[in-house]
Amino acid sequence: MLSATLAVDPAFRVADVSHRLFGSFVEHMGRCVYTGIFEPDHPQADEDGLRRDVLALVRELGVTTIRYPGGNFVSGFRWEDSVGPAADRPTRLDLAWHSTETNAFGLHEFARWADKAGVETMMAVNLGTRGVKEAVDLLEYCNHPRGTALSDRRVANGAKDPFGIRMWCLGNEMDGPWQTGHKTAEEYGRLAAETARAMRMVDPGLELVACGSSSSAMPTFGSWEATVLEHVYDQVDYISCHAYYEELDGDLASFLASPADMDHFIEAVVATADHVRAKRRATKRINLSFDEWNVWYLSRYRTQDPGDGWPVAPRVIEDQYNVADAIVVGGLLISLLRHSDRVTAACLAQLVNVIAPIRSEPGGPAWRQTIFHPFAQAARYARGTVLRTEASTPTYETARYGEVPVIDTVATHITDSDGPDGGELTILAVNRHTTDAVELAIDLRAFPGYMPVEHTVLADPEIRAANTLHHPDRVRPRAAPTGPVTDGHLTVTLRPISWNVIRLRPAG
Ligand code: AHR
Repeated sequence: MLSATLAVDPAFRVADVSHRLFGSFVEHMGRCVYTGIFEPDHPQADEDGLRRDVLALVRELGVTTIRYPGGNFVSGFRWEDSVGPAADRPTRLDLAWHSTETNAFGLHEFARWADKAGVETMMAVNLGTRGVKEAVDLLEYCNHPRGTALSDRRVANGAKDPFGIRMWCLGNEMDGPWQTGHKTAEEYGRLAAETARAMRMVDPGLELVACGSSSSAMPTFGSWEATVLEHVYDQVDYISCHAYYEELDGDLASFLASPADMDHFIEAVVATADHVRAKRRATKRINLSFDEWNVWYLSRYRTQDPGDGWPVAPRVIEDQYNVADAIVVGGLLISLLRHSDRVTAACLAQLVNVIAPIRSEPGGPAWRQTIFHPFAQAARYARGTVLRTEASTPTYETARYGEVPVIDTVATHITDSDGPDGGELTILAVNRHTTDAVELAIDLRAFPGYMPVEHTVLADPEIRAANTLHHPDRVRPRAAPTGPVTDGHLTVTLRPISWNVIRLRPAG
């Protein structure tokens, strides 16, 4: 068995946990919307055609914010198509995913779903095939109370109250050559700045996100952010980051270390944003919206035959996740939390069926994928203030990221002592070692009188084990034994390839 030590201290404060860190993403893509969240013929459908079983899982997942309606889809989206009587809405080609969009589900259906799910909407505007006017029109339609042509149209379409959407994404992945209406950084920067300026004329209180790079592997990574921010710095609050990870060439060790890449990505974008800040002698800081992140077996998708025709809601990238994927997702959550001082919004991409924590079958059940669990536990327990953890851990060598720590950790502390969870200290930890458990000694001397409440572990001797239609609960967190705190130290065992949640409270 390997050994490691960890010190936690309320003085090691990073920042408060932003509630938007536990966001997700609903795109009109594959079966995320159709037969995912919306299926009027389903036995569990409610009066709005929304799947109650999926809604229940969304609430259990604990997502706080949903980015909508894309993704690549948004770059061809005409929002006007998606409002008004459903029978009158046009059917369109969706160029992004080579499918047919019926518009049976649109803005109002989404607003009703978001209300029922208890989530905030993060709306994306189309800056691929459209521009300033359409973005401002959409904003007026959604948020203006009444008394103008567009706001009255919303009221006539059944929404007396404005949708009140505060956070808006200025396009999607505009650096990507695959994007409909792809632009250079100069072209996008100008358009985003003018769109933001006009949107702020409608409502200066909006929170706006400029597109950063669609991955840190893009050839323009770094220079894209710098150029775009030179244009939009005064107009936006966030720059976006997107990252998807997968196990390549059977290199499990590197795959498990993916959070090291996310750390590096975040720190590079923060450095770039702060470089622009320094040049402009600005006081304002730009934060990061990591609004697409997950495990995605992208190389499998790229080698698939896209097929003929323009199907409606085809099965696209319905990746089935295993234990190792869940450990990586847990590590990525730790990375996001560790950078809570600058990453104040993030979206697990996506929510249902399409590279998603929730799977559903048309007419059939819905279930939790393995990655559901680390997300749900972090959303539920990682609250209050993020604490940097001081760990002394063995390391291992990876082909892709060099030497990385075997264990990765972060802690959160609910400093407010009122309420049922007052004072709670949560330690999230992954063990990335493929064969060895780690005995972790946690130094709790800065938390006198704290006792463990529980230690749960997600691990499995079969690391490729997954949750499926027929075995939906094969992989889930299970209780692990906890010992006493002795001389201010708690010792826990982290199984090989495991995700761990250790919760403590003041005694008494
Ligand atoms: O989430 C799937 C796709 O990944 C999104 O549409 C796009 O923004 C990204 O490339």
